[in-house]
Parts: sequence; structure tokens; C-alpha cells
Amino acid sequence: PVRPVMPVDIMHRKGGTPIVCLTAYTTPMARLVDAHCDVALVGDSVGMVLHGMPSTLGVTMDMMILHGRAVVKGCQKAMPVIDMPWGSYEESPQQAFRNASRLMAETGAPAVKLEGGKHMAETIAFLTRRGVPVMAHIGLTPQSVNVLGGYKVVGREAEAGKVMVDAEAVEASGAFAVVLEKVPEGLSARVTQRLRIPTIGIGAGLRCDGQILVVDDMLGMFTEFRPKFVKRYADLGRTADEAIANYAAEVRARAFPQPEHAFPDVLPPKGPKS
Ligand code: KIV
Ligand code: NA
Repeated sequence: PVRPVMPVDIMHRKGGTPIVCLTAYTTPMARLVDAHCDVALVGDSVGMVLHGMPSTLGVTMDMMILHGRAVVKGCQKAMPVIDMPWGSYEESPQQAFRNASRLMAETGAPAVKLEGGKHMAETIAFLTRRGVPVMAHIGLTPQSVNVLGGYKVVGREAEAGKVMVDAEAVEASGAFAVVLEKVPEGLSARVTQRLRIPTIGIGAGLRCDGQILVVDDMLGMFTEFRPKFVKRYADLGRTADEAIANYAAEVRARAFPQPEHAFPDVLPPKGPKS
């Protein structure tokens, strides 16, 4: 195989040791993720996390290719997956193939992810039959925020049947895995039990075949954004804030740089070579 972990390997991990996934958008973060995870997702969340966008809708193909290349460079063993941005695949299976093949060819990633269930089944089948492994994404699909009216839980009560239908449709169309976002835990357990492909949960409870989080969220890079499903494994935002405050204070006090951070005009004489 081209890479140590391919989409089919992820697919075959159904029911086994949970599949560990995180997002990554840059080479250094991809290297950190690669050391411990099975999948590094170049999520279109990059628009909100790194580019200050109010939603994922403004993310472009060019952004996904740029960040995708950076992440592929940092992945030795984890499998990179690239999100298809809004507007790059919904129009037709042909449009989806044109853009998915660009994402794969121009980044080197072996798979793409796209949002949608039953209504994207034809597109997923079109892509997989033409050499594009697809990770599906159902439940809360952030690219539909303007239709859904917010980032609410999807699949409670009467909505549960639709999530199951979507899950079965993406499996039947050939997706190698499916992300369940903000789906109630009982429903995500039933979906996981029903499908033969792995489910990757985010805000979907413990009984999925794998988990994913936005890496900047779990590292605590933000102070304001704290959704219920994100556990903070670090508080890097606070650490960075303290470091930048110290730097600013030392520069203003002329306490930085010290001689050890500067270059002398005359080099000290070297000792005799041994
Ligand atoms: O864009 C993203 O980061 C995602 C994951 C959270 C699943 O789609
Ligand atoms: Na996404």
C-alpha cells in the first residue's frame, strides 16, 4: 500500500480497538497527532479555528489544498483525510469527483470526507467506484447551519429514524466510515450496532467505533468556545496568554533580550583543537 494505514484498514477496525482521530491543519500539529492517532482529519473547521470565519461556509478548495498538503507532510503513519468544502460537491456527482480528485491529487491524501446522508448516497457511490474513498458525516452537519438554524443535537425522538436511514444509506453507497456529530448516545449506539462500517463519534457518546475532536478545542486554545462534548486535555490558550504577557512586559521593561540572546561584535577566541 501507498501508506501504512489506508481507508480499507480503518473500515476493517469495526468493533475493535477504538479508532483515534483528531483534526490537524498544519505540519507541526500533524506530527503531534501522527504520533498517537489513526486518522488526521483536515477539517473545514479550519475556517473557524485558524481563519476567524463565522462558519465553515467560506472555506475554499484552495484552503483545503494548502492545509491538506501541510498535514500530509506531517503524517508518517496516521491516515490523512481531507474535508470537501461547502459548494465543492453538492451540485452533482461529477462536480464532487472533479473536486475530490483534485484534493487527493494535489495533497496526496488517500480519502475525503463530505457531509450528508441519503441525499449524498448517489455521490458517494459515484466517488467510491472511481477511486475516491469517502468518509461520510451525518447527524449535525455544520455546512447546513443556515438550514438547521444552529448547532443543535440531531436525532432526538422523531428525528432518530432519519439519522438511521442516513447511516444505512452512506454504508450502502460505499463509505468506508461515517462521522456521527452531536447525535444522542443511545441512537449512536444503535447506529454503531447496525452498521458494518465504523462510526466515528463527536458529541455522540462512548459507544462509537472511534472518536474525533477538533485538536485546538481539546488543547484549550480558546477561552470562549466550550461545547459540552469537548473535554479539555490542556489549557494551551491560557499558557500562551501568560507567555505573551511576560514577553510584552519584558520588552517594555528592556529586560529582553539579554546578552545570551544577542550576537557579540567580536567572537571570543576559540580554544586549541584537541
Ligand atoms: O471540520 C471538522 O473538524 C470536522 C470534524 C469535527 C468531524 O468535520
Ligand atoms: Na468538517
